[in-house]
Amino acid sequence: MKLEFKQAHTDQDCSLLFKWINDPITRMNSFHTEMIPYDEHCKWFSTKMNNPGSIIYICVDVDIKLEVGQIRVEFDNDIGEINYCVEPQSRGKGFGTEILKLLPNQLIKDGFVFSKLIGKVKHNNIASEKVFLKAGYQVEISSEWKEFTWLNQH
Ligand SMILES: CC(C)(COP(=O)(O)OP(=O)(O)OC[C@H]1O[C@@H](n2cnc3c(N)ncnc32)[C@H](O)[C@@H]1OP(=O)(O)O)[C@@H](O)C(=O)NCCC(=O)NCCS
Repeated sequence: MKLEFKQAHTDQDCSLLFKWINDPITRMNSFHTEMIPYDEHCKWFSTKMNNPGSIIYICVDVDIKLEVGQIRVEFDNDIGEINYCVEPQSRGKGFGTEILKLLPNQLIKDGFVFSKLIGKVKHNNIASEKVFLKAGYQVEISSEWKEFTWLNQH
């Protein structure tokens, strides 16, 4: 498997992300479970594109030239919070794990400076929990969610 990250910025990227955002499992695992209308999504996308503290990558399997998922990081000072998904047809093939493994170096390569990355996972989202653990993130459990951390030791 060889994955490449490309930064989302075009209208086509906006439409692709919309195709994935209302997937029922993605909505169920999100902290905001409501379905998202297209116009709201487009406004959201434009806000993200204009915020230097937000980055969205579309992850491409270069062997089959297929866009398989997305990962977004929102920076608050030097902490980046992760939000990600793999498109429904591509789940269970190891992409989620690979995306989380590749993320820190991609961010460093793109000039982001951060002390840690975190991901908040709902207690019933076993697939995401497994993926964070397989990718080497450390877990802390709270009553509301499981929080996974990657510490930047570079
Ligand atoms: C979470 C998600 C990104 C995982 O991506 P993926 O490419 O399927 O992940 P991987 O293939 O690398 O690994 C998935 C692991 O979870 C396991 N798994 C998948 N569904 C599961 C389930 N319902 N219960 C238990 N384990 C499950 C798989 O067996 C695999 O573990 P294994 O390697 O030990 O067999 C993907 O399921 C997804 O996009 N879900 C919807 C959005 C979401 O939840 N995003 C994360 C929000 S925190």
